[in-house]
Order: sequence, then structure tokens, then C-alpha cells
Amino acid sequence: MARASVLDTLRVATTALMPIVARGALLRRPSMVRAQEKADADRRLVRLLQRLRDTYGEDRLRLRVPGRSISLVLSREDVQHVLSDVVTYTPANVEKRHALAHFQPDGLLISDAADRPHRRTFTEAVLDTHSSVHALGDVFASKVDEEVTPTAGRLDWDDFAASWWRLVRRIVLGDSAADDSLLIERLKSLRANANWSYFHREEVEHREIFLRHVRSYVDRAEPGSLAARIAAQPAAADVHPESQVAHWLFAFDAAGMATFQALALLASHPSVPRDQDHLRASVLESVRLWPTTPLVLRDSAADGSTLLILAPFFHRDDQRLSYANAFEPEVWLDGRADHALIPFSDGPAVCPGRNLVLFIAAKTLSAMFLEHDFMLTSHPQLAADEPLPGTLNPLGLRFAVTARTVDEVPVG
Ligand code: HEM
Repeated sequence: MARASVLDTLRVATTALMPIVARGALLRRPSMVRAQEKADADRRLVRLLQRLRDTYGEDRLRLRVPGRSISLVLSREDVQHVLSDVVTYTPANVEKRHALAHFQPDGLLISDAADRPHRRTFTEAVLDTHSSVHALGDVFASKVDEEVTPTAGRLDWDDFAASWWRLVRRIVLGDSAADDSLLIERLKSLRANANWSYFHREEVEHREIFLRHVRSYVDRAEPGSLAARIAAQPAAADVHPESQVAHWLFAFDAAGMATFQALALLASHPSVPRDQDHLRASVLESVRLWPTTPLVLRDSAADGSTLLILAPFFHRDDQRLSYANAFEPEVWLDGRADHALIPFSDGPAVCPGRNLVLFIAAKTLSAMFLEHDFMLTSHPQLAADEPLPGTLNPLGLRFAVTARTVDEVPVG
């Protein structure tokens, strides 16, 4: 295995890892994301890793970190190899375990090899992982139509997030949770601690209050929600559904950002068709271009060494992908993206919410475009005929919204 020089190790730390940690891995820090958008941080990351690949080759590159074995994965084949084996390369990496334990101590992603299989089976059953349309798809689509009702004027992240969270709470917990913003505030505060992983003390009491709050909805099992699916799903005692739900609520934040980024892309590219397939592919483009999980970590079960997979490098590798820095939903429809890209990870620990997210996000976009047009006022560069920015701050996107006149409303 090649070994990076001390200088190159420092470059990886400062150019790739520190920006990802600084922007908040579990809860975005708005000022940091803003600063990194300005610095186009992820473009620098891609350039650095391309240079390292030129210098050292495509094999794993071991960084010079005293007392710990940490390597960069630099080839697509190796990414697939690592992600295909969750026993040899556990997703329950040490930093992730400490971070996620702040709000989901028994979450699937940080489960050990003994607990992982039945928690995964439970999760897949409730999220209906293998269906492109969830079993409750019709009910969820009606909830989208009720909650996503744009009005003419200005739209920013806070406006969008307010209706997005109402929608998420209704889908995950049931309609009675629609206005329960306290639950999300409690989660947010624990996620802020989680950004610090083991450097922040676990607030066990707050975590218990939050998990009890989640459990109250799980116990209610309101029809037409994921909570109802949980009630219908036999679960072993150590599945701890409230920990799993905590992850889903957390991950729906990323899904909201991905949807909002996709809205910006579509608003800037009016020629892209607005059918469900293209809307779904646009959400995939949104997380390809600006991945919400930029760093996928794995620890070797054999020796505890850590592997770093930096998604932006693979998604934006303009030495290998002709479409690296363009918005091209077609790559998700014609098979070009099949083996190269990992916005939802891959293998047995691939995101089990992928289909559900894509369905809800595409329905949301569809509801937005139904009777309104959106002009992106904050980021004119997205419409320009030049490479898309490496880093985008979704919280800074702003739109001018106009209602279409009756004659212009699409039929069907
Ligand atoms: C844009 C939205 C989302 C993206 C891009 C995304 C991406 C990912 C990625 C990259 C992983 C692997 C992480 C790792 O290995 O460290 C993952 C895992 C996971 N995601 Fe998502 N996710 C999204 C939303 C969701 C939602 C809404 C849910 C639930 C409703 C969900 C449920 C999960 C679960 C349970 C895991 C752990 C899987 C396992 O360990 O087997 N995700 N997701």
C-alpha cells in the first residue's frame, strides 16, 4: 500500500477532512457552509485527490497519522469492494459510533455485527426499501399535496423547511405530529452535540427525553404513517424502534436539502422535463453534485484501521466523468451512473430510505411546479454555461415564485 508523505497527509487533513467536519457532519453549521461555498471547498478536495491519484496511483493511500491506520480509497473498484462487505469493513466506525450515539444509541448504522442483521431487516420492512413506490405511497402523496402549497412571492430555506418538516412528521409519526416542532428542536440540539463525536459528553437525560417523545408516537401507531408500519412489524427486543426512527428523522433533513437543491437545479434548467422520472433523476443529480454524506467511513473488523471514501471525488472526477460538473439527470436514466456513484452508499448497508426519499422528493417537486414557476435569484451561476460550483449552500438558496396563469397550467 502506498504511503502519503507528511505534507500530503496534512493537505488531506486541511483540504478534505477539516472542511467536512467544520461544516457539521450531523447538523450543518450555516456560517461554515456559507464560508465553504465561497471558498468552493469541495472543488479543492477533488483537485487534491486527483493529484494524489496521479502521484501515488489508485491503490489505497495510507496517511501518516501517528498511532492509527487511516487510508484513502482512491479507485471505484475499491469503493465497491469495501462497501460490498459489511462484516470485514464495518459501517460502525468509531467516530460515527460516538457521534450517532448522541441521539440514536441503538441505530442500525452503528450496530455491531450481531445486531445489524435484524435491525436491517426491520428497517427494510418498514421503509419498504426494495419498492420504488412505498406501500403507503398513495397516502404519502396526498400528504405532499396537502403540505406543499407554494405561494407567489419569495421562497427561502426557512419557508421550505417549515412545510418540509410538517410533511416529514406526518409521514414518519402520523398527522397528530404535524405541528410538533419541539421534537425536531430536541433532535437538533442532540445533533449539534453529535457534530463533536467523542469530544462532547453524551447528554443522556436529554437523549432519553427525546427518545421517549419519539416512542409516544411509535406507540400511537397512527394509520398512514411509518409508525403504523412499525406496529405491524414483529421486532426483536433489541431492535429499539425509537433509535431507528431517530435516524430517519435526522436523515429527512438531508432529504429536504437535496430536494431544495434539486429545485434550484430545475429552476436553472427549464428545458429538463418535469415528469416523475426526470424529477427523481434530478434529486439524484442534486446529491451527486452536492452529496449530503460526503464522507463514508468504514473500519476494518480485523485490525480497526479506518478507510475514508470521499464521495465528491468520485462524483465530480472530471478526469473520468464527462458530466462531472454539469446537471445531467439523463445519467440516472440511461445507466451511465450505475456503477460510479454513491450518494446513497452501496452494498448491504446502502441507504434503505433511498426509494422513499426519491419518491417523496420527486412528489414534492411535482407539487411545487404544478401551478408555479421558480426563478433562482440567489445563485445565477447555476444557470450559466460553466462548471457547477463544487460546494453549494442549500440554506442560502432563494427563489422568486410566480403563479402560472390558468392557460399555462399543464394538463394531466
Ligand atoms: C437525501 C437523502 C439521503 C441520503 C443522500 C442518504 C444517504 C445515505 C448514506 C450515504 C448512507 C450510508 C452512510 C454510511 O455508510 O456511513 C445512508 C445510510 C442510511 N440511511 Fe440514508 N440517506 C438519505 C435519507 C434517508 C432517509 C430519509 C432515511 C429514512 C427514512 C434513511 C435511512 C438510512 C438508514 C437507516 C441508514 C443506515 C443503513 C445501514 O447501516 O444499513 N436515509 N444513507
